[in-house]
Amino acid sequence: MPESALDVQAMLAGRAALLRDACERGVAYLDGVTDRPVAPGKAAVNGLLDLGFPLPDRGLGGGQALRLLDEIGSAATVASNGPRYFGFVTGGALPTAVAASWLSAAWDQNAALRVMSPVAARCDEVAIGWIADLLGLPGDAAGGFVTGATMANATCLAAARDAMLTRAGWDAASQGLVGSPPVTVVVGAEVHATIRKALGIIGLGRDRAIVLPADSQGRIEPRDLPDLAGPAIVCLQAGNVNTGASDPFGPLIEWAQKYRAWVHVDGAFGLWAAGSPVTRAQLTFVELADSWATDCHKWLNTTYDCGLAMVSDSGTLRRAMEATASYLPGAEAEAMGLTPQSSQRARGVEVWAVLASLGRDGVAELVDRCCRLARRFADGMRTAGLDVLNDVVLNQVLISFGPAERTDSVIAAVQDEGTCWCGPTTWQGHRAMRVSVSGWSTTEDDVDRSIAAVRACALQAT
Ligand SMILES: Cc1ncc(COP(=O)(O)O)c(C=O)c1O
Repeated sequence: MPESALDVQAMLAGRAALLRDACERGVAYLDGVTDRPVAPGKAAVNGLLDLGFPLPDRGLGGGQALRLLDEIGSAATVASNGPRYFGFVTGGALPTAVAASWLSAAWDQNAALRVMSPVAARCDEVAIGWIADLLGLPGDAAGGFVTGATMANATCLAAARDAMLTRAGWDAASQGLVGSPPVTVVVGAEVHATIRKALGIIGLGRDRAIVLPADSQGRIEPRDLPDLAGPAIVCLQAGNVNTGASDPFGPLIEWAQKYRAWVHVDGAFGLWAAGSPVTRAQLTFVELADSWATDCHKWLNTTYDCGLAMVSDSGTLRRAMEATASYLPGAEAEAMGLTPQSSQRARGVEVWAVLASLGRDGVAELVDRCCRLARRFADGMRTAGLDVLNDVVLNQVLISFGPAERTDSVIAAVQDEGTCWCGPTTWQGHRAMRVSVSGWSTTEDDVDRSIAAVRACALQAT
Protein backbone atom coordinates (compact mmCIF):
# COMPACT_ATOMS: atom_id res chain seq x y z
CA MET A 1 0.00 0.00 0.00
CA PRO A 2 1.61 3.33 -1.02
CA GLU A 3 2.13 5.92 1.69
CA SER A 4 0.09 8.48 -0.21
CA ALA A 5 -1.29 9.12 -3.69
CA LEU A 6 1.91 11.07 -4.32
CA ASP A 7 4.31 8.33 -3.24
CA VAL A 8 7.16 8.77 -5.71
CA GLN A 9 8.51 5.23 -5.50
CA ALA A 10 5.05 3.75 -5.98
CA MET A 11 4.34 6.06 -8.93
CA LEU A 12 7.61 5.23 -10.63
CA ALA A 13 7.03 1.52 -10.09
CA GLY A 14 3.50 1.75 -11.48
CA ARG A 15 4.15 4.17 -14.32
CA ALA A 16 4.73 1.71 -17.15
CA ALA A 17 1.65 -0.33 -16.23
CA LEU A 18 -0.48 2.81 -15.98
CA LEU A 19 0.62 4.08 -19.39
CA ARG A 20 0.14 0.66 -21.00
CA ASP A 21 -3.33 0.52 -19.47
CA ALA A 22 -4.11 3.95 -20.95
CA CYS A 23 -2.78 2.84 -24.32
CA GLU A 24 -4.87 -0.34 -24.30
CA ARG A 25 -7.98 1.56 -23.27
CA GLY A 26 -7.35 4.12 -26.03
CA VAL A 27 -6.87 1.42 -28.64
CA ALA A 28 -10.02 -0.41 -27.50
CA TYR A 29 -11.94 2.87 -27.67
CA LEU A 30 -10.76 3.53 -31.21
CA ASP A 31 -11.52 -0.06 -32.25
CA GLY A 32 -15.10 0.46 -31.11
CA VAL A 33 -15.65 3.94 -32.50
CA THR A 34 -16.76 2.82 -35.98
CA ASP A 35 -19.76 0.79 -34.96
CA ARG A 36 -21.21 2.56 -31.96
CA PRO A 37 -23.99 5.15 -32.22
CA VAL A 38 -22.28 8.45 -33.04
CA ALA A 39 -24.01 10.44 -30.29
CA PRO A 40 -23.71 9.05 -26.75
CA GLY A 41 -26.85 7.50 -25.25
CA LYS A 42 -28.83 9.23 -22.49
CA ALA A 43 -27.76 6.65 -19.91
CA ALA A 44 -24.08 7.29 -20.68
CA VAL A 45 -24.53 11.06 -20.42
CA ASN A 46 -26.47 10.72 -17.17
CA GLY A 47 -23.70 8.42 -15.93
CA LEU A 48 -21.32 11.39 -16.02
CA LEU A 49 -22.89 12.50 -12.74
CA ASP A 50 -20.82 9.72 -11.17
CA LEU A 51 -17.64 11.68 -11.94
CA GLY A 52 -18.78 14.33 -9.45
CA PHE A 53 -18.11 12.55 -6.15
CA PRO A 54 -16.72 14.64 -3.28
CA LEU A 55 -12.99 15.19 -3.74
CA PRO A 56 -11.46 12.36 -1.73
CA ASP A 57 -9.04 13.20 1.08
CA ARG A 58 -6.93 10.27 0.10
CA GLY A 59 -6.56 10.15 -3.67
CA LEU A 60 -7.71 7.17 -5.71
CA GLY A 61 -4.38 6.78 -7.49
CA GLY A 62 -3.82 6.93 -11.24
CA GLY A 63 -5.04 3.42 -12.12
CA GLN A 64 -8.38 3.88 -10.44
CA ALA A 65 -8.84 7.41 -11.84
CA LEU A 66 -8.11 6.17 -15.34
CA ARG A 67 -10.49 3.22 -14.94
CA LEU A 68 -13.31 5.55 -13.88
CA LEU A 69 -12.57 7.92 -16.76
CA ASP A 70 -12.74 5.08 -19.25
CA GLU A 71 -15.71 3.28 -17.75
CA ILE A 72 -17.79 6.40 -17.23
CA GLY A 73 -16.29 8.77 -19.78
CA SER A 74 -15.65 6.74 -22.94
CA ALA A 75 -19.33 5.94 -23.43
CA ALA A 76 -20.23 9.61 -23.04
CA THR A 77 -17.96 10.86 -25.80
CA VAL A 78 -19.29 11.92 -29.18
CA ALA A 79 -17.75 9.57 -31.75
CA SER A 80 -16.27 12.50 -33.66
CA ASN A 81 -13.17 10.41 -34.26
CA GLY A 82 -15.28 7.88 -36.14
CA PRO A 83 -16.21 7.77 -39.83
CA ARG A 84 -19.80 9.05 -39.71
CA TYR A 85 -19.49 12.24 -37.70
CA PHE A 86 -20.35 15.09 -40.06
CA GLY A 87 -20.88 17.83 -37.47
CA PHE A 88 -19.28 21.29 -37.48
CA VAL A 89 -15.94 20.86 -39.34
CA THR A 90 -14.44 18.56 -36.80
CA GLY A 91 -12.23 16.05 -38.61
CA GLY A 92 -11.10 12.79 -37.05
CA ALA A 93 -7.59 12.34 -35.70
CA LEU A 94 -5.26 10.26 -37.86
CA PRO A 95 -3.64 7.30 -36.06
CA THR A 96 -0.27 9.02 -36.55
CA ALA A 97 -1.67 12.15 -34.90
CA VAL A 98 -2.90 10.25 -31.85
CA ALA A 99 0.37 8.33 -31.59
CA ALA A 100 2.52 11.46 -31.90
CA SER A 101 0.38 13.27 -29.35
CA TRP A 102 0.86 10.39 -26.90
CA LEU A 103 4.62 10.53 -27.35
CA SER A 104 4.56 14.30 -27.13
CA ALA A 105 2.49 14.11 -23.92
CA ALA A 106 5.16 11.84 -22.46
CA TRP A 107 7.78 14.45 -23.40
CA ASP A 108 5.64 17.16 -21.72
CA GLN A 109 7.51 19.93 -23.49
CA ASN A 110 6.81 23.61 -23.04
CA ALA A 111 7.14 24.92 -26.59
CA ALA A 112 7.40 28.60 -25.61
CA LEU A 113 11.15 28.85 -26.15
CA ARG A 114 13.78 26.83 -28.00
CA VAL A 115 15.81 26.58 -24.81
CA MET A 116 12.83 24.90 -23.15
CA SER A 117 12.41 22.42 -25.99
CA PRO A 118 14.72 22.25 -28.98
CA VAL A 119 12.60 19.49 -30.52
CA ALA A 120 9.36 21.47 -30.23
CA ALA A 121 10.99 24.56 -31.75
CA ARG A 122 12.40 22.54 -34.65
CA CYS A 123 9.10 20.74 -35.31
CA ASP A 124 7.26 24.09 -35.30
CA GLU A 125 9.75 25.57 -37.73
CA VAL A 126 9.71 22.62 -40.14
CA ALA A 127 5.96 21.99 -39.95
CA ILE A 128 5.09 25.66 -40.55
CA GLY A 129 7.48 25.75 -43.51
CA TRP A 130 5.88 22.60 -44.94
CA ILE A 131 2.39 24.04 -44.53
CA ALA A 132 3.40 27.29 -46.26
CA ASP A 133 4.83 25.25 -49.11
CA LEU A 134 1.84 22.92 -49.33
CA LEU A 135 -0.70 25.75 -49.29
CA GLY A 136 1.29 28.00 -51.61
CA LEU A 137 1.86 30.74 -49.00
CA PRO A 138 5.02 32.87 -49.04
CA GLY A 139 8.02 30.88 -47.83
CA ASP A 140 9.23 33.69 -45.58
CA ALA A 141 5.88 34.12 -43.78
CA ALA A 142 6.11 33.77 -40.01
CA GLY A 143 3.65 31.71 -38.05
CA GLY A 144 2.77 30.14 -34.77
CA PHE A 145 0.52 27.36 -33.56
CA VAL A 146 -2.44 28.44 -31.44
CA THR A 147 -5.59 26.79 -30.10
CA GLY A 148 -7.62 27.11 -33.30
CA ALA A 149 -8.72 29.38 -36.12
CA THR A 150 -10.49 31.70 -33.67
CA MET A 151 -7.21 32.50 -31.94
CA ALA A 152 -5.39 32.48 -35.28
CA ASN A 153 -7.83 35.12 -36.55
CA ALA A 154 -7.30 37.20 -33.40
CA THR A 155 -3.51 36.85 -33.68
CA CYS A 156 -3.39 37.86 -37.33
CA LEU A 157 -5.86 40.71 -36.85
CA ALA A 158 -3.85 42.06 -33.91
CA ALA A 159 -0.79 42.13 -36.17
CA ALA A 160 -2.87 43.80 -38.89
CA ARG A 161 -4.21 46.44 -36.49
CA ASP A 162 -0.72 47.32 -35.26
CA ALA A 163 0.76 47.46 -38.76
CA MET A 164 -2.00 49.66 -40.16
CA LEU A 165 -1.89 52.04 -37.19
CA THR A 166 1.90 52.21 -37.25
CA ARG A 167 1.67 53.40 -40.83
CA ALA A 168 -0.79 56.06 -39.65
CA GLY A 169 1.77 57.20 -37.06
CA TRP A 170 0.23 55.48 -34.04
CA ASP A 171 1.99 52.87 -31.92
CA ALA A 172 -0.97 50.68 -30.92
CA ALA A 173 1.14 47.95 -29.35
CA SER A 174 2.49 50.46 -26.85
CA GLN A 175 -0.33 53.01 -26.56
CA GLY A 176 -3.42 50.91 -27.12
CA LEU A 177 -6.41 52.16 -29.06
CA VAL A 178 -7.55 55.04 -26.87
CA GLY A 179 -7.14 58.16 -29.02
CA SER A 180 -5.88 56.24 -32.06
CA PRO A 181 -6.95 57.01 -35.62
CA PRO A 182 -9.99 54.90 -36.56
CA VAL A 183 -9.30 51.63 -38.39
CA THR A 184 -11.74 50.72 -41.16
CA VAL A 185 -12.61 47.03 -41.15
CA VAL A 186 -14.31 45.29 -44.08
CA VAL A 187 -15.94 41.87 -43.95
CA GLY A 188 -18.27 39.88 -46.20
CA ALA A 189 -21.93 39.28 -45.41
CA GLU A 190 -21.17 35.62 -44.67
CA VAL A 191 -18.15 36.27 -42.49
CA HIS A 192 -17.52 33.57 -39.87
CA ALA A 193 -18.67 34.43 -36.36
CA THR A 194 -15.13 34.08 -35.02
CA ILE A 195 -13.84 36.96 -37.15
CA ARG A 196 -16.35 39.20 -35.40
CA LYS A 197 -15.33 37.70 -32.07
CA ALA A 198 -11.65 38.27 -32.86
CA LEU A 199 -12.37 41.87 -33.90
CA GLY A 200 -14.10 42.37 -30.56
CA ILE A 201 -11.20 40.87 -28.62
CA ILE A 202 -8.61 43.11 -30.29
CA GLY A 203 -10.63 46.28 -29.72
CA LEU A 204 -11.82 46.92 -33.27
CA GLY A 205 -15.40 46.00 -32.43
CA ARG A 206 -17.59 43.10 -33.49
CA ASP A 207 -20.17 45.26 -35.20
CA ARG A 208 -18.53 48.30 -36.75
CA ALA A 209 -17.17 46.65 -39.93
CA ILE A 210 -18.33 47.62 -43.41
CA VAL A 211 -20.21 44.57 -44.69
CA LEU A 212 -19.86 43.70 -48.39
CA PRO A 213 -22.70 41.78 -50.05
CA ALA A 214 -22.21 38.08 -50.73
CA ASP A 215 -23.68 35.83 -53.42
CA SER A 216 -25.79 32.70 -52.97
CA GLN A 217 -22.69 30.68 -52.02
CA GLY A 218 -21.45 33.23 -49.48
CA ARG A 219 -18.67 34.68 -51.68
CA ILE A 220 -18.10 38.43 -51.54
CA GLU A 221 -19.25 39.98 -54.80
CA PRO A 222 -16.29 41.88 -56.25
CA ARG A 223 -18.23 44.80 -57.69
CA ASP A 224 -19.18 48.28 -56.51
CA LEU A 225 -16.44 48.01 -53.91
CA PRO A 226 -16.20 51.07 -51.64
CA ASP A 227 -13.33 53.55 -51.48
CA LEU A 228 -11.24 53.09 -48.36
CA ALA A 229 -9.42 55.84 -46.49
CA GLY A 230 -6.82 55.63 -43.73
CA PRO A 231 -5.81 52.46 -41.92
CA ALA A 232 -7.94 49.57 -43.20
CA ILE A 233 -8.22 45.80 -42.79
CA VAL A 234 -10.12 43.60 -45.24
CA CYS A 235 -11.19 40.15 -43.99
CA LEU A 236 -11.67 37.52 -46.68
CA GLN A 237 -12.61 33.88 -46.39
CA ALA A 238 -11.30 30.59 -47.79
CA GLY A 239 -14.08 28.07 -47.22
CA ASN A 240 -17.44 29.28 -45.95
CA VAL A 241 -18.47 27.13 -43.00
CA ASN A 242 -21.85 26.40 -44.61
CA THR A 243 -21.10 26.11 -48.33
CA GLY A 244 -17.33 25.62 -48.53
CA ALA A 245 -17.08 28.42 -51.13
CA SER A 246 -14.17 30.87 -51.12
CA ASP A 247 -14.06 34.57 -51.89
CA PRO A 248 -12.64 35.63 -55.27
CA PHE A 249 -9.23 36.61 -53.97
CA GLY A 250 -7.77 38.11 -57.16
CA PRO A 251 -10.10 41.10 -57.64
CA LEU A 252 -10.68 41.63 -53.91
CA ILE A 253 -7.00 41.72 -53.03
CA GLU A 254 -6.28 43.98 -55.99
CA TRP A 255 -8.95 46.40 -54.73
CA ALA A 256 -7.68 46.27 -51.13
CA GLN A 257 -4.08 46.83 -52.20
CA LYS A 258 -5.09 49.96 -54.10
CA TYR A 259 -5.85 51.46 -50.66
CA ARG A 260 -2.84 49.78 -48.99
CA ALA A 261 -5.29 47.90 -46.80
CA TRP A 262 -4.19 44.77 -44.92
CA VAL A 263 -5.82 41.62 -46.25
CA HIS A 264 -6.51 38.78 -43.81
CA VAL A 265 -7.85 35.40 -44.91
CA ASP A 266 -9.84 33.16 -42.57
CA GLY A 267 -9.15 29.72 -44.00
CA ALA A 268 -9.92 27.52 -41.02
CA PHE A 269 -10.54 24.50 -43.21
CA GLY A 270 -10.84 25.97 -46.71
CA LEU A 271 -7.18 26.90 -47.01
CA TRP A 272 -6.44 23.16 -47.23
CA ALA A 273 -8.16 23.12 -50.63
CA ALA A 274 -4.76 24.40 -51.83
CA GLY A 275 -3.30 21.05 -50.74
CA SER A 276 -4.87 19.34 -53.75
CA PRO A 277 -4.30 20.15 -57.43
CA VAL A 278 -8.01 19.44 -57.97
CA THR A 279 -9.32 22.20 -55.68
CA ARG A 280 -6.34 24.58 -55.62
CA ALA A 281 -7.83 26.87 -58.27
CA GLN A 282 -10.57 27.89 -55.82
CA LEU A 283 -7.88 29.79 -53.92
CA THR A 284 -6.05 31.49 -56.78
CA PHE A 285 -4.16 34.57 -55.53
CA VAL A 286 -4.79 33.77 -51.85
CA GLU A 287 -1.02 33.98 -51.37
CA LEU A 288 -1.18 37.73 -52.05
CA ALA A 289 -2.89 38.36 -48.71
CA ASP A 290 -0.99 39.63 -45.66
CA SER A 291 -2.12 37.03 -43.14
CA TRP A 292 -3.90 33.69 -42.98
CA ALA A 293 -5.62 31.73 -40.21
CA THR A 294 -6.11 28.02 -40.49
CA ASP A 295 -6.57 24.87 -38.46
CA CYS A 296 -4.73 21.58 -38.37
CA HIS A 297 -7.35 19.98 -36.10
CA LYS A 298 -9.98 20.25 -38.83
CA TRP A 299 -8.96 19.02 -42.27
CA LEU A 300 -5.42 17.92 -41.50
CA ASN A 301 -6.91 15.60 -38.88
CA THR A 302 -4.56 16.27 -35.97
CA THR A 303 -5.94 15.97 -32.46
CA TYR A 304 -7.42 19.01 -30.72
CA ASP A 305 -6.39 21.71 -30.33
CA CYS A 306 -4.27 23.05 -33.15
CA GLY A 307 -4.66 26.22 -35.20
CA LEU A 308 -2.08 28.22 -37.12
CA ALA A 309 -1.62 31.97 -37.57
CA MET A 310 0.59 33.04 -40.49
CA VAL A 311 1.71 36.57 -41.31
CA SER A 312 3.67 37.48 -44.43
CA ASP A 313 5.80 40.07 -42.65
CA SER A 314 7.45 38.33 -39.72
CA GLY A 315 8.51 41.59 -38.06
CA THR A 316 4.89 42.74 -37.83
CA LEU A 317 3.82 39.53 -36.11
CA ARG A 318 6.78 39.69 -33.73
CA ARG A 319 6.13 43.26 -32.71
CA ALA A 320 2.45 42.47 -32.02
CA MET A 321 3.24 39.38 -29.92
CA GLU A 322 6.32 40.71 -28.13
CA ALA A 323 6.97 39.91 -24.47
CA THR A 324 10.44 40.72 -23.22
CA ALA A 325 12.08 39.99 -19.90
CA SER A 326 15.66 39.38 -18.95
CA TYR A 327 14.97 35.73 -18.20
CA LEU A 328 13.38 35.08 -21.63
CA PRO A 329 16.30 34.82 -24.05
CA GLY A 330 15.48 35.19 -27.75
CA ALA A 331 11.73 35.14 -27.11
CA GLU A 332 10.98 37.42 -30.04
CA ALA A 333 11.87 34.82 -32.65
CA GLU A 334 10.27 31.87 -30.94
CA ALA A 335 6.82 30.42 -30.32
CA MET A 336 6.04 32.77 -27.43
CA GLY A 337 7.11 35.72 -29.54
CA LEU A 338 4.94 34.71 -32.49
CA THR A 339 1.71 33.80 -30.67
CA PRO A 340 -0.42 35.24 -27.87
CA GLN A 341 0.59 32.32 -25.64
CA SER A 342 3.69 32.03 -23.48
CA SER A 343 3.68 28.47 -22.16
CA GLN A 344 2.16 26.24 -24.81
CA ARG A 345 1.91 22.61 -25.70
CA ALA A 346 4.13 21.37 -28.51
CA ARG A 347 1.51 21.36 -31.24
CA GLY A 348 4.11 21.34 -34.00
CA VAL A 349 5.34 17.87 -33.00
CA GLU A 350 2.10 16.24 -34.04
CA VAL A 351 1.75 18.40 -37.15
CA TRP A 352 5.28 17.44 -38.19
CA ALA A 353 4.45 13.74 -37.71
CA VAL A 354 1.19 13.95 -39.66
CA LEU A 355 2.74 15.85 -42.57
CA ALA A 356 5.81 13.59 -42.64
CA SER A 357 3.59 10.51 -42.64
CA LEU A 358 1.12 11.74 -45.29
CA GLY A 359 3.42 13.64 -47.59
CA ARG A 360 2.10 15.95 -50.27
CA ASP A 361 0.15 13.15 -51.98
CA GLY A 362 -1.49 12.02 -48.73
CA VAL A 363 -2.76 15.53 -47.97
CA ALA A 364 -4.11 15.85 -51.51
CA GLU A 365 -5.82 12.48 -51.20
CA LEU A 366 -7.39 13.43 -47.86
CA VAL A 367 -8.79 16.63 -49.39
CA ASP A 368 -9.94 14.93 -52.60
CA ARG A 369 -11.57 12.01 -50.82
CA CYS A 370 -13.56 14.24 -48.47
CA CYS A 371 -14.74 16.36 -51.41
CA ARG A 372 -15.68 13.27 -53.41
CA LEU A 373 -17.64 11.84 -50.48
CA ALA A 374 -19.39 15.18 -49.91
CA ARG A 375 -20.54 15.08 -53.55
CA ARG A 376 -21.69 11.47 -53.06
CA PHE A 377 -23.70 12.57 -50.01
CA ALA A 378 -25.28 15.40 -52.00
CA ASP A 379 -26.10 13.09 -54.94
CA GLY A 380 -27.73 10.60 -52.56
CA MET A 381 -29.86 13.35 -51.09
CA ARG A 382 -30.93 14.63 -54.50
CA THR A 383 -31.77 11.08 -55.60
CA ALA A 384 -33.99 10.83 -52.53
CA GLY A 385 -35.81 13.94 -53.73
CA LEU A 386 -34.28 16.23 -51.14
CA ASP A 387 -33.01 19.76 -51.74
CA VAL A 388 -29.27 20.45 -51.65
CA LEU A 389 -28.96 24.18 -51.05
CA ASN A 390 -25.32 24.77 -52.02
CA ASP A 391 -23.00 24.07 -54.92
CA VAL A 392 -20.87 21.30 -53.44
CA VAL A 393 -17.45 22.70 -54.37
CA LEU A 394 -15.61 21.37 -51.33
CA ASN A 395 -16.54 19.19 -48.34
CA GLN A 396 -19.71 20.95 -47.12
CA VAL A 397 -23.30 20.02 -48.00
CA LEU A 398 -26.51 21.80 -46.97
CA ILE A 399 -29.74 19.83 -47.10
CA SER A 400 -33.25 21.15 -46.62
CA PHE A 401 -36.19 19.00 -45.56
CA GLY A 402 -38.77 21.69 -46.28
CA PRO A 403 -40.06 24.10 -43.63
CA ALA A 404 -37.73 24.97 -40.73
CA GLU A 405 -39.64 22.92 -38.12
CA ARG A 406 -39.62 19.83 -40.33
CA THR A 407 -35.90 20.26 -41.07
CA ASP A 408 -35.16 20.57 -37.35
CA SER A 409 -37.21 17.49 -36.53
CA VAL A 410 -35.43 15.41 -39.20
CA ILE A 411 -32.04 16.57 -37.86
CA ALA A 412 -33.08 15.62 -34.32
CA ALA A 413 -34.21 12.21 -35.59
CA VAL A 414 -30.91 11.69 -37.44
CA GLN A 415 -28.92 12.54 -34.31
CA ASP A 416 -31.11 10.28 -32.22
CA GLU A 417 -30.97 7.35 -34.64
CA GLY A 418 -27.20 7.31 -34.29
CA THR A 419 -25.86 6.06 -37.62
CA CYS A 420 -24.37 9.47 -38.28
CA TRP A 421 -24.36 12.94 -36.76
CA CYS A 422 -25.13 16.17 -38.62
CA GLY A 423 -25.96 19.58 -37.17
CA PRO A 424 -28.37 22.38 -38.08
CA THR A 425 -27.74 25.75 -39.65
CA THR A 426 -29.63 28.57 -41.30
CA TRP A 427 -28.32 29.46 -44.73
CA GLN A 428 -29.52 32.77 -46.15
CA GLY A 429 -32.91 32.37 -44.47
CA HIS A 430 -33.33 28.62 -45.08
CA ARG A 431 -33.07 26.12 -42.25
CA ALA A 432 -30.78 23.25 -43.29
CA MET A 433 -28.81 20.24 -42.14
CA ARG A 434 -25.03 20.72 -42.44
CA VAL A 435 -22.87 17.83 -43.55
CA SER A 436 -19.14 18.34 -43.30
CA VAL A 437 -16.99 15.48 -44.57
CA SER A 438 -13.67 16.14 -42.86
CA GLY A 439 -12.29 12.85 -41.58
CA TRP A 440 -9.71 10.42 -42.98
CA SER A 441 -11.69 7.29 -42.06
CA THR A 442 -14.98 8.00 -43.85
CA THR A 443 -15.64 5.59 -46.71
CA GLU A 444 -18.21 5.27 -49.50
CA ASP A 445 -20.00 2.71 -47.37
CA ASP A 446 -20.20 5.17 -44.44
CA VAL A 447 -21.72 7.79 -46.70
CA ASP A 448 -24.21 5.30 -48.16
CA ARG A 449 -25.24 4.10 -44.69
CA SER A 450 -25.66 7.71 -43.62
CA ILE A 451 -27.72 8.58 -46.70
CA ALA A 452 -30.01 5.63 -45.96
CA ALA A 453 -30.40 6.72 -42.33
CA VAL A 454 -31.14 10.35 -43.22
CA ARG A 455 -33.60 9.25 -45.87
CA ALA A 456 -35.44 6.98 -43.45
CA CYS A 457 -35.66 9.81 -40.89
CA ALA A 458 -36.98 12.18 -43.58
CA LEU A 459 -39.60 9.65 -44.68
CA GLN A 460 -40.84 9.25 -41.12
CA ALA A 461 -41.05 12.99 -40.45
CA THR A 462 -44.45 14.59 -40.75
C1 LIG B 1 -14.28 29.71 -41.52
C2 LIG B 1 -14.03 29.40 -40.07
N1 LIG B 1 -13.34 30.25 -39.30
C3 LIG B 1 -13.10 30.01 -38.00
C4 LIG B 1 -13.54 28.87 -37.39
C5 LIG B 1 -13.25 28.64 -35.94
O1 LIG B 1 -12.31 27.61 -35.79
P1 LIG B 1 -11.86 27.06 -34.36
O2 LIG B 1 -13.05 26.38 -33.78
O3 LIG B 1 -10.75 26.12 -34.68
O4 LIG B 1 -11.41 28.21 -33.54
C6 LIG B 1 -14.28 27.95 -38.14
C7 LIG B 1 -14.83 26.74 -37.50
O5 LIG B 1 -15.52 25.96 -38.11
C8 LIG B 1 -14.51 28.20 -39.52
O6 LIG B 1 -15.18 27.34 -40.30
